[in-house]
Amino acid sequence: MQLLKTHSCGELNINNVDQKVTLAGWVNRRRDHGGLIFIDLRDREGLTQVVFDPERAKEIHDLAGDLRSEYVIKVTGDVSKRPAGTENASLATGEIELIASDLEILNTSKVPPFYINKEADVDEYLRLQYRYLDLRRPHMQRNIILRHKVIKFMRDFLTDRGFIEIETPILLKSTPEGARDYLVPSRLYPGQFYALPQSPQQLKQLLMVAGFEKYFQIARCFRDEDQRADRQPEFTQLDLEMSFVDEEDILSLMEQMFIELVETLTPQFKMNKPYPRLKYEEVIRRFGTDKPDMRFGMELSDFSDLFADTEFGVFKSVLDDGGHIKGICAPGCADYTRKQQDELIDFVRSYGAKGLITLAMGETADDVKSKVLKFLTHEQIKQMTQRLNAKAGDLMLVVADSPKVVNNAISALRSEMAKRLNMADPNELNFAFIVDFPLLDRIEEESRWDVMHHPFTAPVEEDIPLLDTDPGKVRARHYDFVCNGCELSSGSIRIHQPEMQKKLFTLLGYTDDEIKERFGHLIEAFEYGAPPHGGIAPGIDRFVMLLAGEETIREVIPFPKTQGATDPMTGSPAEVPDQQLADLRLQIKSADDEK
Ligand code: AMO
Ligand code: AMP
Repeated sequence: MQLLKTHSCGELNINNVDQKVTLAGWVNRRRDHGGLIFIDLRDREGLTQVVFDPERAKEIHDLAGDLRSEYVIKVTGDVSKRPAGTENASLATGEIELIASDLEILNTSKVPPFYINKEADVDEYLRLQYRYLDLRRPHMQRNIILRHKVIKFMRDFLTDRGFIEIETPILLKSTPEGARDYLVPSRLYPGQFYALPQSPQQLKQLLMVAGFEKYFQIARCFRDEDQRADRQPEFTQLDLEMSFVDEEDILSLMEQMFIELVETLTPQFKMNKPYPRLKYEEVIRRFGTDKPDMRFGMELSDFSDLFADTEFGVFKSVLDDGGHIKGICAPGCADYTRKQQDELIDFVRSYGAKGLITLAMGETADDVKSKVLKFLTHEQIKQMTQRLNAKAGDLMLVVADSPKVVNNAISALRSEMAKRLNMADPNELNFAFIVDFPLLDRIEEESRWDVMHHPFTAPVEEDIPLLDTDPGKVRARHYDFVCNGCELSSGSIRIHQPEMQKKLFTLLGYTDDEIKERFGHLIEAFEYGAPPHGGIAPGIDRFVMLLAGEETIREVIPFPKTQGATDPMTGSPAEVPDQQLADLRLQIKSADDEK
C-alpha cells in the first residue's frame, strides 16, 4: 500500500528522533514566530508540531507562509527533540517536533464556519449543516471511534458465543412497535406501500422458526415519532434473538456483555455489578418510573393513607377519584424563594400535574413553612417527615393526582432536583434489569386494552387463565434494561404458539380478518414447528451516548437529524420532481385542500 504518510500525527515520540518521516493532515493552527513558522498538523490520531525554518529551507518556509487553518498538507522532515522548556506535556507528541524539509499543499480550505481546533459552543443547526466539519472536531472523532469500538466489541462477543449476524430487509411491511411508520410508495403497485421497519422484530422471530437459534444484527430502525434528546427517526439497535431460552439466559448474556464492554472500553466508569433485577411494581413505587436513575436516592413516599379523612379539598378530591399523594425530599432546598418554588410548580404542570405542595423544614418539627399548612395536621406532617427522612433545611415536594400523573410528575421532578443538586455522578454507570411488567395497559378513554410493549411478548405461564378473567393482572415475560435513567433495551420471551398469538391479537381488538391480513405470515410460521424463543434489542445510540458522557444521541450519530427531523446538510426531507410523483401515481394535496 502506497500511503502519502509514513506515520500518523499522534504517534511520533522521543524514540523517533533523527528519523526522516512524512506526515499528512490538516493545518490545525499556524503561528509565526520571528522567522520560524509553527504548524500544528492534525489527523485522526493527534497533533504534531511542524517547524519551518527559513535558514534550513527558504522556499519551503515561504510556502508555509501561505498555509491557513484546515489546509490539507503533506510534510517531510526530521523528527527532532524540542528545545528544553518548550515541551508540551498535554500532547502525546509533545516532546518532539518535525523540522520540515519538504511541503506539499494537497488542498486549500475556505475559512470554516466555526472553529474546528477549539471546543466552542456552536449552534447545532450550523453544526449539522456542516456536519463533515463538525465531525473533524476531536470530540466528535472520539465519539464516532468509540461507537465503532462498541459495535465491534458486540460483534466479536456474540460471534464468539455462536451467534450469526443476519441482515433483514428495510423495505418491509408495517411492524407494530407503537410508533408511526415511514412509508415508501411502490411504483410497480401504485397505491401500495412498503413500510420501513420500526425494528426487525417479526423477522428475527421468523429466523428462529428457520432454525438459526442465535441471531444478531446491527439493525437500523425507523420510527416516525416526536424527536427528543434520546430519540431519532432512524436509530440503531443491537437486535438479538435466541431459541430454547428463558429470561435469565438473555439477561445474563446481556449482563456479561455490558460488564466486559464497559470494563474494556471505558474503564474510567464506576459500575455496579452484578446488575440488579427489579420488579416493575417496585421501581414504580420507589421512583415513579420504569427507567429510574439509581445513581442517587431521593426515593418517593406515598402519603395517600395519611389523608384518608382529610378535609383539604385538593387531596380529598384526588383520593376520592382513586388518585395518590406522593412526595420526595429535596435536601437543602428549604431556602428556595417564592419564585424558585413557582418554577417547580410550572415544571410539574408541564407533566400534567395540577400543582405542587412545598413544605420547607425548619429546625424543629413545628417549624415548617408551607402555603397549605393550615390544612395539614401535626401528625400528618410528622409522618411525612419521617417517611421522607426530611431534615432541617430540606424541602418536601408533594403532588396529588391520578396514579399515572403523580408518577410522571414526581419522577420528572426527582430527576430535575437531582440535576440542580448535582446528585448523579457523571462518572458512574448504574445498570438494572426491570422485570415482571404487566402485559397490558388499559386505555380508559377508548375502553380497550393495549400492549405495554409489543404484541409478540408472551404472558407469564401461570397468569394465562387471567387473560379471560382479569387481563390487567397478567404479567408479561418482558424485561427492560436501564442505565442512569435511560431505557437502553427492551426484550421478552415471545409467544410461539399460533393460538396464543391469535388470542392476544383478539384481546387487543383485532378482527380475524385484520389478524390474517397483518400477521398471517407470522401465525402461519408458528404452525410449522416454531421453537420457544426470546430476545432483546439494546439501543446502540443511547448506550454510546452514556459511554461518551453526552446529553443527546445526536452527538454519537455521524449524520443525525435535527429535533425537527430534518437534515440541514442535504436539505431532506425535500420535494421531488413532478415526474417522480407521477411515476408513483401520487398527488400532493396542499394544506388548503384540507380545509
Ligand atoms: P423497543 O421499541 O423498546 O423494542 O426498542 C429497543 C431500544 O431501542 C432504542 N430506541 C431508540 N433509540 C433512538 N431513537 C429512537 N426513536 C428509539 N426507539 C427505541 C432504545 C430502546 O430501548 N423489537 C423490540 C425489541 C425486542 O423485543 O427484542 C424493540 O424494538 O434504546
Ligand atoms: P389551589 O387550591 O388550587 O390554590 O391550590 C393550593 C395549593 O395546592 C397550591 O400551592 C397548589 O400548587 C397546590 N396544588 C393544587 N393542586 C395540587 C395537586 N394536585 N397536587 C399537589 N399540589 C396541588
